[in-house]
Amino acid sequence: MAFALTVAYVMTQSPLGIRANNWVMETFTDKTVVVTGAASGIGRGIAVAFAREGANVVACDVDAAGLDSTALAVREVGCSVQVELLDVRNEEAWAALAQRVVPDVLCLNAGVFRGGLIWESPRSDWDWVMSVNVHGVLNGLRAFVPGMIARGTPAHIEITASMAGLIATGMSGIYTASKFSAVAIAETLQRDLQAVGAPIGVSMLCPSAVNTAIGSSQRNREDAVHDDSGAAAVEEILVDFCAKGIDPNDVGQMVVDAIRAEQFLVPTRDTAAEFIRIRSEALQRYEVPPFQMFD
Ligand code: NAI
Repeated sequence: MAFALTVAYVMTQSPLGIRANNWVMETFTDKTVVVTGAASGIGRGIAVAFAREGANVVACDVDAAGLDSTALAVREVGCSVQVELLDVRNEEAWAALAQRVVPDVLCLNAGVFRGGLIWESPRSDWDWVMSVNVHGVLNGLRAFVPGMIARGTPAHIEITASMAGLIATGMSGIYTASKFSAVAIAETLQRDLQAVGAPIGVSMLCPSAVNTAIGSSQRNREDAVHDDSGAAAVEEILVDFCAKGIDPNDVGQMVVDAIRAEQFLVPTRDTAAEFIRIRSEALQRYEVPPFQMFD
C-alpha cells in the first residue's frame, strides 16, 4: 500500500517539482465556499471576496454578533450566505455540518493568538491555541475531505497559517508552533491529495500584518486570562502591529486570486520571499536564523 502510494505520488510530480494539474477552478459562481473564523478580520474578508465572485458562502464562527455583520456584508454584494455557529474545536459540530454541506472551497482560517516567554506559557495557553489553530484545522479536514474526494469535482482547500509559520520571532512560542504546524499540515495535505489523485488544490495563506482583532483573541476564550504578564504585553504590541497592517478585504481578494492561479504559498507582502531566503540560508549554514520581524 505504502509503495503504491509512493509511486502514485512520484507520478504526480513534474521533473521540476511543479504541480501539473489538468484541472483548475476558474469560476466560483454558485460554488459552495465554507469559511471558518468568518465573523471578523481575514475570514470576513475571504467571505466577502467569494461573495463578489457569486459563490454561496457558509460563514462559520463562535461569534454570533460578528457573523451577523459578515452576513450583512455578504448580502450587500448581492449574494446568499448561510451562517453557522461552529466552534472549530468541536468535532461533532464539524461532522453535523459535513452532513449538510460539501464545499467546493474550504477555508480553514479561524485562529487565535497568545504571547509570552516559552517556558512561562502555561499548559492551558498551549491547549487553547493548539486546539483552535491546529486541531481546528485537522477537524475540518477529517470532516470534509472524504466527501470532497468522493464527489470528484475540482475543489480547493485554503489554510490560514502566518509568516509566523515560516519565521520564528520570539515571545510568542505557542502561536509560532501552531503556525509552523499549519504550514506542515498544508504541505502534507497537498502531497496526500496528489498521492490519491484527488482534484483538490491547497493554498497556504501566510499573512504579514493585517488590520484585524487577532491581538484581542482572548475575547473568544472561555477561561480568558487577563493579567499583566509578559503575554499581555506581547498582545498589546500585536494590537499596534495589526493596526498598521493591510485591509483584511484585500487579503480576501488575494485568497480568491491565489486559488484561481493554483498558487500554494500566498504571502500578503512582497517582502516575504526575502524573509524566507534569509532564514533558509542560515539553516543551510547550520546556524540559528537571524531575528527578523516581518512587516
Ligand atoms: P480575528 O480575531 O479578527 O478573527 C479570527 C476569527 O476566528 C474571529 O472571528 C473569532 O471569533 C474566530 N474564532 C476564534 N476561535 C474560534 C473557534 N474556536 N471556532 C471558530 N471560530 C473561532 O483575527 P484574524 O487576523 O482575522 O485571524 C484570522 C487568521 O489569520 C488566524 O488564523 C490568524 O492566526 C491569521 N493571521 C493573522 C494575521 C494578522 O496580522 N491579523 C497575520 C498572520 C496570520
